[in-house]
Amino acid sequence: MWTAITREVSPALAGCELSFIERDAIDVDRASAQHHAYQRALEALGCRVVALPAEPALPDSVFVEDVAIVLDEVAILTRPGAASRRGEVAGVGVELRRHRSVLAIEAPGTIDGGDVLRLGRTLHVGQSARSNPEGIAQLGALLAPHGYAVAGVPTFGCLHLKSAVTQLDDETLLLQPQWVDRERFASFRLIEIDPAEAHAANVVRVGDALLMPASFPRTQQRLIEAGYKVVAVDVSELQKAEGAVTCCSLVFRTAGTVG
Ligand code: GLY
Repeated sequence: MWTAITREVSPALAGCELSFIERDAIDVDRASAQHHAYQRALEALGCRVVALPAEPALPDSVFVEDVAIVLDEVAILTRPGAASRRGEVAGVGVELRRHRSVLAIEAPGTIDGGDVLRLGRTLHVGQSARSNPEGIAQLGALLAPHGYAVAGVPTFGCLHLKSAVTQLDDETLLLQPQWVDRERFASFRLIEIDPAEAHAANVVRVGDALLMPASFPRTQQRLIEAGYKVVAVDVSELQKAEGAVTCCSLVFRTAGTVG
């Protein structure tokens, strides 16, 4: 079965980090309601959702994806690129130790999990403002014994690699061609976002279904026409915090009977 670790929205969400979008007023109660609907959508797709309590002092802590990388064999706690986010790591680590042996990125390395796209036995890591060469090198050294390769990927004008490209199925990626070089992923079938929906490349894959924001109907239609089962959720308040759907969970396989 699938487990999805999430964390409830912080009451301090409005003080979040922003890099590539303008600050806009965030309705935290609405963000929380949208996040609960997102959790219910994950459950409907077969995930057992773990909801960690809100962290009042950590504005971005709902975006749990950035603090860990979970593989079948091991989990890696990251060291987020934004100093304000480093306090998020320990609490997620406590939960992850119930499921995996846990390793960690150490200073001066930095990695945001949003920069890490696993495709088979290769982890592609965005060379963004959040993930530095030292962090990428450490990740490679930690994962080589487990048979994974790690490759840095330049990103252009976006927060994370997974702002620009995510996986739809074993052979296919959804891609924003302005933010990453599509030639890096030329061995995959590539579906591009609708050009009017710049932030639409971030979707969560759970089994044979895709979870994506409701605000990208044109890209959603492309995916439906390509044969995918798509579930759309309204995450507009979380998008104002420069969040996306992958950011709000750590989804991984656990022992069980479903999925
Ligand atoms: N607000 C999401 C981030 O910048 O990490």
